[in-house]
Amino acid sequence: MNHFLDIHKTDPADLRGIIDQAGAMKAARNGRPRGAADDEQPLAGRMVALIFEKPSTRTRVSFDVGVRQMGGETMVLSGQDMQLGHGETIADTARVLSRYVDLIMIRTFDESVLEEMAEFASVPVINGLTDRTHPCQIMADVMTYEEHRGPIAGRKVTWCGDGNNVCASFLHAAAQFGFDLTFTGPMQLDPEPEFLGLARKAGRNIVIERDAKKAVEGADLVVTDTWVSMHDSQSSKERRHNMLRPYQVNAELMAHARPDALFMHCLPAHREEEATSEVMDGPHSVVFDEAENRLHAQKAIMRWCLGV
Ligand code: CP
Ligand code: NVA
Repeated sequence: MNHFLDIHKTDPADLRGIIDQAGAMKAARNGRPRGAADDEQPLAGRMVALIFEKPSTRTRVSFDVGVRQMGGETMVLSGQDMQLGHGETIADTARVLSRYVDLIMIRTFDESVLEEMAEFASVPVINGLTDRTHPCQIMADVMTYEEHRGPIAGRKVTWCGDGNNVCASFLHAAAQFGFDLTFTGPMQLDPEPEFLGLARKAGRNIVIERDAKKAVEGADLVVTDTWVSMHDSQSSKERRHNMLRPYQVNAELMAHARPDALFMHCLPAHREEEATSEVMDGPHSVVFDEAENRLHAQKAIMRWCLGV
């Protein structure tokens, strides 16, 4: 049994195996309807709990559909509706759920909730986003990059904007998959030094460049995300927007990247804020492939967790 808690906590060979299996499973579906079962049914007889303490469209639907395609069943739970939101400890919740279900995916606020769930559950736990990281997203993003452009190793990724949870998992992936990353954004929103250090220690070229145009020079992939994450206070919105406006990904900025550069955004996007529609819907954009690949990458993650 394996937990999937973060990219930097997962062996690089296992990460590569997950990406390869995701690609093979995607190909094997061969265009069949979304609701049709896979030929292989590795989750037959398995029950998966999907716990959400924050809103979600992609994570919720892609996990739910993925489990069903592999023959399993799901229950989608909101943290607020559970005793979790009313004082029962995470440890007790983990012990109880482990008596009913075979796998737990949780989207939560503080990383400590995920860690406590994993420590006390006797079934695998998957990180469906915390305030600090979003590993399932970046597994889908690596898969998407490689589908379009081949190996991501040795490439230059430029992250524009807020050094948030999605950026953190990109830094972890830089270390594990061997690509370089330039961060461009305001100093107040730099990625955590610990995560910058991890990627540098792994030998990657990790750069902070305040000038967005210089930062995207030579980039193979330009990535951004919302300027106000779910864990950020609404009262910080105006201040964050003012700081982040110079880092908007628009056609003029994309023109400084390599001609064949890809553009990614994990979605949901706030069009004309962190990225313009011209870029979101333009020739560099693979944002909907990323969304689709959440499904395939997470199916492979679940199989790896359960060893099936
Ligand atoms: N990208 C992503 O995780 O989207 P949701 O918040 O809709 O799940
Ligand atoms: N950084 C965003 C990602 C949403 C998928 C958030 O945490 O709200």
